[in-house]
This record gives sequence, C-alpha cells and structure tokens, in this order.
Amino acid sequence: MKRRSALVIAIVLLALAIPAVASALPSMPSSKFGPSAGCGCHAALLSQWTPSMHAQALVDPLFVLKLEEGEAATNGGLGLYCNACHSPIAVMAGELTSVDQSAVSAVGLEGVTCDFCHQVTGTDGPLGNTSTAITGDGIKRAQLQDPQAPHAAEYSQFHETAEFCGNCHDVDHPGNGMHLEATYTEWKNGPYSAEGIVCQDCHMTPGPGVTKPNPGKSAAMGPDREHIYTMTFAGGNVGLGDSALAEERLKAAAELELDVPEVQESGDVAVKATITNVGAGHYLPTGLTEVRQMWLEVKATGEDGTELLNERRDFGSVLKDAAGKSPVELWEAVDFESDDRIPPKESTSNEYTFPMSSGEVTVEATLYYRSCSEEMAEKAGVEIPTTTMASVTKTVYASSEAMAASEEAAREDTGEGGGSTALPIVLGVLGVAALAVIGLAVFKRRKS
Ligand code: HEC
Ligand code: HEC
Ligand code: HEC
Ligand code: HEC
Repeated sequence: MKRRSALVIAIVLLALAIPAVASALPSMPSSKFGPSAGCGCHAALLSQWTPSMHAQALVDPLFVLKLEEGEAATNGGLGLYCNACHSPIAVMAGELTSVDQSAVSAVGLEGVTCDFCHQVTGTDGPLGNTSTAITGDGIKRAQLQDPQAPHAAEYSQFHETAEFCGNCHDVDHPGNGMHLEATYTEWKNGPYSAEGIVCQDCHMTPGPGVTKPNPGKSAAMGPDREHIYTMTFAGGNVGLGDSALAEERLKAAAELELDVPEVQESGDVAVKATITNVGAGHYLPTGLTEVRQMWLEVKATGEDGTELLNERRDFGSVLKDAAGKSPVELWEAVDFESDDRIPPKESTSNEYTFPMSSGEVTVEATLYYRSCSEEMAEKAGVEIPTTTMASVTKTVYASSEAMAASEEAAREDTGEGGGSTALPIVLGVLGVAALAVIGLAVFKRRKS
C-alpha cells in the first residue's frame, strides 16, 4: 500500500515537473508598442475594446488567482507560459516572468492590446500556445486594402482568418501537450469553417450571429466604409467583461425545446428537453471548460407545490492527472476524465419521467451559465453572476376538461375574451351603418 502511494506521488511529481517553459515569442522591448490611449482616432473602437476581456487579460483577478496557484504548485514553472498569452508584450520585453507585475510597462498591463494584434504578421510554428509571428516593425496591419492613416499601415489578409485568433485560442499543456483549450480546433472541425464563417464574423460584429455588413468609419477622419469590424471580442464573461454584450451572446447561443404531453391522467409523464447549439461556432461551452459552468435544470412541480422532478446535467469538462485522480487543476492534467459539450449546430436530448399528480403540473427547463464556481469567484474577490441562457415552461393537465378550463381562465385573466373579438364586430357594425347612411344620402339626392 505504502509503495503504491509512493509510486502515485512519483508519477504526479513527474507530471508536474514542467521545465520553466520558454515562450515561443521573440524578444523585444515594450517601447515597440504604443498604448491604446494613442489610438484616439479610433475612439469608437477604443471604447469597444476597453471593457473587453482582452484588455483585462493580465489584470483579470481570476487569471491572477489561477496563475498564483499554478506558480505555487509547480515551483514557478508556468509564469512565462501563462503570461505569454495573457500579456505577450510584457513577456517579450522580459518585464514579467511570474506573478509579480510591478515591472510591467503600462502597455504590457493592457494585456491583449491594439498594437500587439495590429503588428502581428502570421503564425510561427504549429498553431496555438501563442504561435504568433511578430517583428515589432511598427507597421499597423488590418483588413483594409487602402489604409489612409497618419501611421505606417499595411493590408493583412491574415487578420481576416481564424488562424489569427487560433494563435492564442488553442491552448496545449506546456509539459505533455494535452489540448486544454481547443476553441480554434473545434471551429476548424465544425460546420462554420466549411461555410467560411470565421471568429471575426461573430465576435467582431455589432450583434450575435453574423451581423454583416456593418457600415461605418473605422477612424474619425477616415472614409465611410461598407463594412467595419468592432473591437468588442465579447464572449460569455458577464461578470468581468461587457456584461450586456456577453449576456446577449449567451442568450443567442442555445435553443431549448421542452416536450411534454398536454394531458395525462396518471402514470409516468415523459419529459424531453433538447438543447441545440445554434449560435456558437465551437463547442458549447468552449475555452476553459473545466472552469466554466453550463447546466440544464429540469423541474416538475404539482399544483400544491410538491416537487415531482428536479434534475441537473452539467456541460463542460473534468480533468484528470496521471494517477487517474479527478478533478485536478489544469497544470496537473494529462487527459479529460469526462467531456460533455455540445458541438456547433448539434443537439443533445435529455429524457426524464415523473409520476403524474392529481392536479396540473408545471414543467420548467432552464439552461444556465456561469464563468466560474462561486468558490473560485469568492477566492478571487469578484462577483460572477449566473445567466439564464434559455428557459421554457409548460403545463401538463390531468384531463382535457381541466386544460380547457385553465385556458378559459387565462383568457379571462388577460381580458382577451372580450377585446380581441369585440373590436372587429364593432368595426363591422360601424362599417355597415356608414354604408347605410351613404346609401340613404345617394338615394335622397337622386330623388330630389
Ligand atoms: C485580438 C486582436 C485585436 C485587438 C486587441 C484589436 N484589434 Fe483591431 N482588428 C483586429 C482584427 C483581426 C481586425 C480585422 C478583422 C477582419 O478583417 O476580419 C481588426 C480591424 C481593425 C481596424 C480596421 C477597421 C475596422 O474597424 O474594421 C482598425 C482601425 C482597428 N482594428 C483598430 C484597433 C484599435 C484602435 C484597437 C484597440 C482599441 C484594436 N483594433 C484592438 C484585431 C484586434
Ligand atoms: C495574444 C493572444 C490572443 C489573440 C491573438 C486573441 N485572443 Fe481572444 N483571448 C485571449 C485571452 C488571454 C483571453 C482571456 C482573457 C481573460 O479572460 O482573462 C481571450 C478571451 C477572448 C474571448 C472571451 C471573452 C469573454 O467575454 O468571455 C473572446 C470571445 C475572444 N478572446 C475572441 C478572440 C477573437 C475573435 C480573436 C481573433 C480576432 C482573438 N480572441 C485573438 C488571447 C488572445
Ligand atoms: C457562429 C458564431 C461564432 C463563431 C464563428 C465563433 N464564435 Fe465564439 N462564441 C459565440 C457565441 C454565441 C458565444 C457565447 C456562448 C459560449 O460561451 O460558448 C461564444 C463564446 C466564445 C468564447 C467565450 C467562451 C466562454 O464560455 O468563456 C470564446 C473564447 C470564443 N467564443 C472564441 C472564439 C474563437 C477563437 C472563434 C474562432 C476560432 C470563435 N469564437 C468562433 C459565437 C461564435
Ligand atoms: C495560448 C494562450 C493561453 C495560455 C498559454 C494560457 N491562457 Fe488562460 N486563457 C486563454 C484564453 C483564450 C482564455 C479565454 C477562454 C475562455 O473564455 O474560456 C483564457 C482564460 C483564462 C482564465 C479565465 C479568466 C476569466 O476571467 O474567466 C483563467 C483563470 C486563465 N486563462 C488562467 C491561465 C493560467 C493559470 C495559465 C497558465 C497555466 C493560462 N491561462 C495560460 C489563453 C491562454
């Protein structure tokens, strides 16, 4: 027994022996990058980016918490790896190796900032783990074919591709290569990449879904353009990002259907709740899915308040370590213990039964999302709300008479019974009366 646990410890230690990974990024001083405040000509874009998670990527309390825990657990083995993606400029400049941010320049503290993204030229090496190619030449690149800027600017086809985002949105374990986050790969293997719909079409446009074209000016003094992108990068972070935009995206991501019989006298009632990923170009949820929480709740309640059904299914992933223990932290992980996520445009059905009660029964299915657990939020000192992505309520009646009576009562309640049918009748009567008056007048005139 003792020997076995010693072996387990040895395996775990081996898995944790992450050699202080160097970042794939080149070295260069942070002075090669201008701060976002210098992008004032793009005031609208600046105000879109400021509340985004990209702007907060380094100072984000949830990131700081996990980085501190990871550094403590691996003896400082993760700092460069984690920080490279959450603040590439600070890492390239050598201003940041671990948790101490005191030497980080102002532009480094801006996380994934304007001038980093706009100096990117492509991909260096296999995609993912900050595989960004960048030289720091100061030329600002984007999709505009005819940039008319007071600074050096160049057309970049790469900025229009999902690979631009994939440089950072595929995250592999630095020690064992396990795919910890695979948003880009999920998209690549899914239906949207085949249709030519890229990340930018959903995350850099005014609303959820593909809201193109979005005409406007990309700079105050610039020309009117048929389509410009927004720098919102909204995802699901209602607590720390732009909450209105994140909530809107979460509500557009999933469709929820609830099938129950309208009438059932007795016996077991069959309930089916189907979730379809209609709006996300990748799995639902995606990204850091061992931290994200998405769950379906299905409840049935009798007329007298008796709970007849209360089920919960969690969607996400659970990590395990080399000894098979789960759940574990992402730096301890070698594989998934379980993985329950919904691929793009796919559905998942959930079937339940409950015993019919004598009166009517209310059945409710709700899909919820939270960026992280309450426990993690509390540790980081932040408030993370729960968002309702979708909700459906239906009633099962014990008899068709009960159903008819309830529908009648509902009609009376809303005053529908009178209003909606009375108006056409009144209009009809008025119309007939008007015709009669006109007819009478014509008849009289003819006579005289
Ligand atoms: C995560 C990387 C990223 C960040 C951060 C970012 N941009 Fe962009 N930006 C892009 C990409 C990618 C495009 C082109 C999208 C496409 O063609 O599909 C773009 C397009 C633009 C354009 C061209 C006009 C338009 O709106 O389409 C301007 C100007 C621009 N960005 C300025 C900014 C400014 C200013 C900031 C900071 C306030 C910023 N960007 C932050 C990636 C980024
Ligand atoms: C330099 C690396 C990098 C690049 C390039 C990058 N991202 Fe990100 N992105 C991040 C990091 C890091 C976070 C997480 C920040 C946090 O929550 O602390 C993030 C978060 C996000 C989120 C989640 C926001 C939320 O509210 O939940 C979205 C959406 C997103 N990025 C979209 C994009 C898109 C689209 C592109 C390509 C145009 C892109 N990113 C390019 C690093 C990057
Ligand atoms: C068809 C539209 C669509 C496309 C294409 C798309 N996304 Fe999303 N994305 C969404 C929606 C809707 C959400 C909100 C639901 C969710 O969190 O999954 C989202 C959420 C996210 C999140 C936040 C996940 C979380 O729970 O914190 C990230 C990060 C992200 N997307 C990155 C990307 C990247 C990178 C690409 C391209 C490889 C991409 N998205 C392509 C629609 C899209
Ligand atoms: C190659 C890029 C990359 C690396 C390396 C990386 N991350 Fe991230 N991180 C991201 C992206 C992209 C997201 C957003 C995904 C999503 O929304 O689910 C993110 C999100 C997070 C979040 C959630 C923040 C929030 O506000 O919800 C935490 C915490 C985090 N990362 C911690 C870490 C730690 C700790 C490490 C090192 C062990 C690390 N990251 C390494 C790209 C990276």
